[in-house]
Amino acid sequence: MPEATIDLAVVPVAGRGTRLLPLTKSQPKEMLPVGRKPVVQYVVEELARCGLRRFLFVTGPGKTAIENHFDIDAELVESLRESGKEELLRELAFERAELDYFYTRQRRQLGLGHAILCSAPAVGNEPFVAALGDSIIGIHAQSQIVRRMIEAFHARQADAVIAFEAVPPEDVVHYGIAQPDRSPSGDENVFRLAGIVEKPSPAEAPSNLAVAARYVFSPVIFDHLRETEPGKGGEIQLTDAIQRLIQSGGTVLGMPLPPAERRFDIGNFESYFKAFLEFAFADPEYGGQLRRLAKGLL
Ligand code: G1P
Repeated sequence: MPEATIDLAVVPVAGRGTRLLPLTKSQPKEMLPVGRKPVVQYVVEELARCGLRRFLFVTGPGKTAIENHFDIDAELVESLRESGKEELLRELAFERAELDYFYTRQRRQLGLGHAILCSAPAVGNEPFVAALGDSIIGIHAQSQIVRRMIEAFHARQADAVIAFEAVPPEDVVHYGIAQPDRSPSGDENVFRLAGIVEKPSPAEAPSNLAVAARYVFSPVIFDHLRETEPGKGGEIQLTDAIQRLIQSGGTVLGMPLPPAERRFDIGNFESYFKAFLEFAFADPEYGGQLRRLAKGLL
């Protein structure tokens, strides 16, 4: 019997975004514009293209703009229709996508692992994707990595599959870092994890492969999250729960992002500015003139 596929994504969006203050004082970082769309719309569109249909956002204080964004704004649609603004109406087509949205609150800010654990009562006993709401994969979110991760998850009967991206050695301190198992995995697109460590120093880092904000999990991850003590920064770390899963004999696979499906991290100004520039330069209408402008300025 073929495995039922995975159509549920947990999207944690509860973080305060303090690295982007004052921009994020009263606005969720997941709603920041990157080119024409807010970050979280790219995330949902990427995942929908990979077959996901149910989206469970783990939200926190000040995040209602996200719910409003995915709601159908009948009044706005009506007034655009009445004034014949068909082009603008098309920009709202995403509202009518056949997707279901659910929201739960992380009522205490205890870290990413805790945010994922907050989804457990709603997820129940099924595998799911976890996608961080502040990262876009691929220019204009044209990535199929999650589809390939789901395929590998089923084909290898894995307990978790995680996307990784090589980062410069000085950046390992910002990410969960893989310790790849060097023995052949039987598939050149995936490697087995022998361990994983949250935000190590360059000297301690077992590799330069950084968790790239996309995960597929069996619900067994919740058992490990429940047992995970606060780690780096005093927070309950998802990375530590994954390490427990590996130590308990679970099959945890890593899948590298191909260069064409790079990750755009909207968590700090440096990478946010870079992402905005690249997306604006790639804009079908204004990209050309923006690139000329930039050349003239430099
Ligand atoms: C979180 C995770 C980290 C991961 C990163 C990817 O860190 O803890 O393992 O590499 O997301 O975006 P944060 O960015 O929340 O500090």
